[in-house]
Parts: sequence; structure tokens; C-alpha cells
Amino acid sequence: MTRYVITGASRGIGLAMARLLSEDGVEVIAAVRRPTPDLEAVGCEIAAGVDVTSDDGAAVLVEALNGRHVDVLINNAGLLIPDTLDSLDFAAALRQYEINALGPLRISRALLPLMGEGGKIGIVTSRVGSLGDNRSGGNYGYRMSKAAANMAARNLAIELKEKGIAVAALHPGYVRTAMTGGRGNIDAEPAAKGLLLRIEELGLETTGTFWHAEGYELPW
Ligand SMILES: NC(=O)c1ccc[n+]([C@@H]2O[C@H](COP(=O)([O-])OP(=O)(O)OC[C@H]3O[C@@H](n4cnc5c(N)ncnc54)[C@H](OP(=O)(O)O)[C@@H]3O)[C@@H](O)[C@H]2O)c1
Repeated sequence: MTRYVITGASRGIGLAMARLLSEDGVEVIAAVRRPTPDLEAVGCEIAAGVDVTSDDGAAVLVEALNGRHVDVLINNAGLLIPDTLDSLDFAAALRQYEINALGPLRISRALLPLMGEGGKIGIVTSRVGSLGDNRSGGNYGYRMSKAAANMAARNLAIELKEKGIAVAALHPGYVRTAMTGGRGNIDAEPAAKGLLLRIEELGLETTGTFWHAEGYELPW
């Protein structure tokens, strides 16, 4: 059976992906800092204490996996702290970099020994991390962290191809979650469905690409 690990599955899009997969009978390990009642109601396995900004958090996840093979890793945990050039707080920008850019790299590296040929890594970045697509500006800390996450996805794709592991960056859409204060043009569940489809379609022939959940490729 295919085994998925999803970070940031306590709420929002990560929770929706864990729920959809579990409903389909797929094995999911939901990696979270703290379990939530919503996640507990899903009934999947929960690895608690997984803060993606710390090596200890990554080690907790590795320990919870206890040598089990991982087929798909979805690095979904993320943080948005809105800013403008005037309001930009450099400590907040660094925090977003730690979670959004270094987090996926830290967790991917920690889980690599459990992955192999046919494995897949999805990094939920964001369209706002695209240099080519940036026409609206703003949100320096978040955008720059997601641009770095995109680079992590490209770099990992190059390095992991010879191990048979495919990597993609993914944009879920503008999704109504806590992150957006409930604003957006799609709910978490359909966005999650789109992301899971993109990961299903991902293979070595498409590794190193960047996808909108709706199914079209985005510019880096
Ligand atoms: N919503 C959108 O419109 C949108 C658009 C583009 C991209 N995205 C990306 O989609 C992903 C999911 O976002 P969302 O909308 O579902 O946001 P959300 O509802 O705010 O959920 C964020 C998740 O990330 C977790 N998280 C934050 N910091 C963490 C850390 N240090 N270690 C481990 N987990 C941490 C949160 O866990 P806690 O409960 O412990 O805080 C939560 O589970 C993020 O990467 C986000 O940047 C979202």
C-alpha cells in the first residue's frame, strides 16, 4: 500500500489532503506540531511534535516512522505573515524562510533514507514564489521564502532523479483557510484534491516542474 507523509496536517489544506487520502483507504502519517480535534477525527496515524524548523522535529518524525518506507512526502507546512516594504519585519521574514524554505528541505533530507525508486516529494510552495509570474508585488517575507522553496524543489529534483525520486513544486490556488483569513476562491478540499492529482501524475519524466492544483504548469 502507498504510504504518504504530510506535514502541517493539523488544519487547512494539509488536513484536507490527509482526510481525502484516508477516505480512500490510503495510509497517511500526518506530521504536526500538535494534533487537532479535526485531525483526530480523520482517524489516520498522527506524528506529533514535528516542528519543521528543528532537527529535533525531523527526528521525531523519523522515529515515528520506525524504518517504514515512505512513498510520498508532501511538504505542506507553511506560514504567511503579510507585509509591505514599510511594515516588513526582518525577524518575521526569517521565520517564514525557516518554515517555508528550510522546512521542506530539512524534512525531505531526514526522510530520504526511507524513500527510494518511485518515490515522490511534493513541496506546497505558492504561485507568489514565482519570479516570472510576479505582477502584483508585496509580501516580501512570504514571497522570498516561497521563491527559495521553489529553488529547493528544483535542486532536489536534479539531485534525486538518479535515485528514482520525483519532485514537484505545487500551488494550491487562493484557498479559504486560516492562512488567508478565510478569503480565497476555493475551499481546502477541492484544492487538496487538485494537489493530490498533480502528485499522482508526477513522475521522473516531469520531475522539477511547478504545478497549479488546477492542472497547468507555472513558470518558475
Ligand atoms: N491558503 C492559500 O491560499 C495558499 C496559497 C498558496 C500556498 N499556500 C500554502 O499551502 C500550505 C498550506 O496552507 P494553508 O492555507 O492550509 O494554511 P494554514 O491553514 O495556516 O495551515 C498551515 C499549516 O502549517 C503548519 N505549520 C506552520 N508552522 C509550522 C512549523 N513550524 N512546523 C510544522 N508545521 C507548521 C500549521 O500547523 P499549526 O497548527 O501547528 O500552526 C498548519 O497545519 C502552506 O505551505 C501555504 O503557504 C496556501
